[in-house]
Amino acid sequence: MTRLQSVTADELTEWNRRYASLPALDIVQLSSRWFSPNLVLASSFGPEDLVLMHLALQQDQRPEIFVLDTGRLPPETYDLIERWRLRYEVKFRFYYPDPVALESFVTTHGPNAFYESAERRKQCCQIRKVQPLQRALQGKDAWLTGLRREQSAARSTIDLFAFDEAGRLKISPLIDWSRQEVWDYIRTHKLPYNPLHDKGYASIGCAPCSRAIEAHEDERAGRWWWEDQSHKECGLHSPVKKEDQHAPASL
Ligand code: ADX
Ligand code: SF4
Repeated sequence: MTRLQSVTADELTEWNRRYASLPALDIVQLSSRWFSPNLVLASSFGPEDLVLMHLALQQDQRPEIFVLDTGRLPPETYDLIERWRLRYEVKFRFYYPDPVALESFVTTHGPNAFYESAERRKQCCQIRKVQPLQRALQGKDAWLTGLRREQSAARSTIDLFAFDEAGRLKISPLIDWSRQEVWDYIRTHKLPYNPLHDKGYASIGCAPCSRAIEAHEDERAGRWWWEDQSHKECGLHSPVKKEDQHAPASL
């Protein structure tokens, strides 16, 4: 029996209380001890993920790090992945969209359908990110993400430990970190980072859906900037309402 199979929703609430002030390194350590080899780390190579990967690489039992390669990432992101791959000698796991679904979508709606409507944009995210994520998480008990509460109103209530929609454990060790703390860590440890950040990009996803922001703008203002600002999630992190949080079906 895995550690997760013995966790109930009430226990999760207790973990969130008990471990709330534990440093991120300790959370990553404890997660890899409890859940390896069924723990993975989702990395977009954004600033938070750089910190998270650096913490994870210090563990005896390193979680596998995976990248959802949408096919539309900026060239700078691929260069950054290469820099990390060579410097830290990590074999990152890549997941790609289903070619048949993608071919059908692009043939029908064109290569830039995401600008057409929120519905098309979500379909594109579904094919290029959400479905590959589901494959990446198959057979896993838990995953690490770089989500922070400060990133947006929608993320302000996330928990350190939460069940995702499939009942897996989603662990976000940086939930309470500020953007400044993330960047202080990157600079202190001289971690390679995406040069687009020096050009005003605060948050980077796919190239056509990310832009630089002005100083006064919210840090996710450059993502899907043409859409209603209150619904800017791609589906990787659909919130699970507290009352709907459930223990895994295997219990
Ligand atoms: S998104 O939902 O808007 O794209 P964001 O870029 O803020 O998410 O990243 C939040 C977390 O989602 C990251 O810290 C990472 O754990 C995961 N993530 C986002 N994009 C990817 C990706 N392309 N590959 C792997 N993980 C990702
Ligand atoms: Fe498609 Fe843009 Fe979503 Fe990337 S961020 S999957 S290009 S809609």
